[in-house]
Amino acid sequence: MSLRDLVRPNIWRLQPYSSARHEFEGQADVYLDANENPYGSAFSRYPDPLQLQLKQVIARYKSMPVDQIFLGNGSDEAIDLIMRIFCRPGIDEILVLPPTYGMYKVSADICDVKVNECLLTSDYQIDVEGIRQAITPETKVLFICSPNNPTGNLMDRERIEEVFRFFHGIVVIDEAYMDFAPANQSWLRTLVNYPNLVILQTFSKAWGLAGIRLGLAYASKEIIHLMNKVKPPYNVNQLTQKAALDALTMGLEKKEAEVIEINSERKRLTTLLEDRTEVLQVFPSEANFLLVKFSDPAKVFQHLKTAGIVVRDRSKTPLCEGCLRITIGTPEENNLVLETLNLMI
Ligand SMILES: Cc1ncc(COP(=O)(O)O)c(C=O)c1O
Repeated sequence: MSLRDLVRPNIWRLQPYSSARHEFEGQADVYLDANENPYGSAFSRYPDPLQLQLKQVIARYKSMPVDQIFLGNGSDEAIDLIMRIFCRPGIDEILVLPPTYGMYKVSADICDVKVNECLLTSDYQIDVEGIRQAITPETKVLFICSPNNPTGNLMDRERIEEVFRFFHGIVVIDEAYMDFAPANQSWLRTLVNYPNLVILQTFSKAWGLAGIRLGLAYASKEIIHLMNKVKPPYNVNQLTQKAALDALTMGLEKKEAEVIEINSERKRLTTLLEDRTEVLQVFPSEANFLLVKFSDPAKVFQHLKTAGIVVRDRSKTPLCEGCLRITIGTPEENNLVLETLNLMI
């Protein structure tokens, strides 16, 4: 199937908004083209719509061509764009693999795109045969999250490769938590083999920059071109571009040290939680959170809440019955969780 067959015809034809800065290339002395305030401040000018300087640094860091990188207002923006580029409202469908990240469905619901589901297997892996059967002629996008939220595990590579053999719509692999997983698990290096693959990453997790809202998508240059066409012109603001540039040029060691610390806390917390009588299971995690099955999750949730500790209740989610999802905090925060559980009667 060609890309053109997958894209909504109106998007394929779309003449994108052409911003003032977009049309003019080069250096000028006087900018009177964008109705900005000439006095203003350091922020009086519109930011670069295609974030070239930032993308060049990311391109070097990830060994990816600039034209295969999209930057958005969080990866949630990329998810929304994918929905609007490929799925005709009221006609096309997506396939999600619960239990998984909730925004795929919300984004589809907003766009009036039908959501089909194929549950993960009991060990939280993708069910290849189930996916084969759940795919319809209208299925345009399949969302795979690896490491998966909320289960924390990586999805088996061979199974995903098998899915690529029979599904020729868009496959999104959401790698929001990939920085916490062992090296070389990312799908980035395989992008050349799969023209229908979109990989999502984010500055919100390992980089510790959830507040700046910066997400990334990597795909063929044709798909990235479509995403750039559909996005609002100035979707990544100047402060965000600057903060990300600073992090990439000065904060790499900090980020790597924090990932090591978080992963070691994940291991410590796993062991200590496994020893507790009210804990039935701690699921293996390659992310910065643990999915923990309790004998009485409502009681634990309430008890932690009363102590001022918020965790995510996943106990009503299929395959996560009895489970709370606990983000790995600082050693002090994690100790507080354990001490609070000690006080529970
Ligand atoms: C799997 C997954 N993808 C994407 C996101 C959203 O990331 P962003 O902050 O970049 O929008 C999250 C946030 O929790 C997530 O868990």
